[in-house]
Amino acid sequence: MRKAITLTVNGRERGVEVEARTTLLDLVREQFGLTGAKLGCDIQVCGACTLLVDGKPVSACSMLAVDADGCAVETIEGLGSKDKLHPLQEAFMEFGALQCGYCTSGFILTAKALLAENPQPSDAQIRDYLAGNFCRCGCYQEIMQAVKNVVGES
Ligand code: FES
Repeated sequence: MRKAITLTVNGRERGVEVEARTTLLDLVREQFGLTGAKLGCDIQVCGACTLLVDGKPVSACSMLAVDADGCAVETIEGLGSKDKLHPLQEAFMEFGALQCGYCTSGFILTAKALLAENPQPSDAQIRDYLAGNFCRCGCYQEIMQAVKNVVGES
């Protein structure tokens, strides 16, 4: 069964027909070509698929696209530009906060949501907010450094 939905993706309104079982992750990756968010665990544990929906981080592997009808969705492709990266993107590069990069989109979007909610988080608050994002390459120290570097700037 297909359903027509309308959502805003990175500031652009998109109307699309989706199967009732299509996940938000499949919609953005396969129909919109926005492949920054990755499928990891597929059970809402690892954070690689994180997107912002109405400003809040969600596991897009476990959210149906139809449930995003009317929502504003933000993906990593919506941050910064080729000429001017978002401060979090700059900081992740500066501090070497990635190796394979599989987790990076999810970490950056989650950190963006944190800083929108709490522009001056403590180290413990940063760790707590990012606890749902895993980095298999073990870049946690560098990720903390990168996020802390942006605290107060965004
Ligand atoms: Fe490889 Fe985080 S950079 S999983």
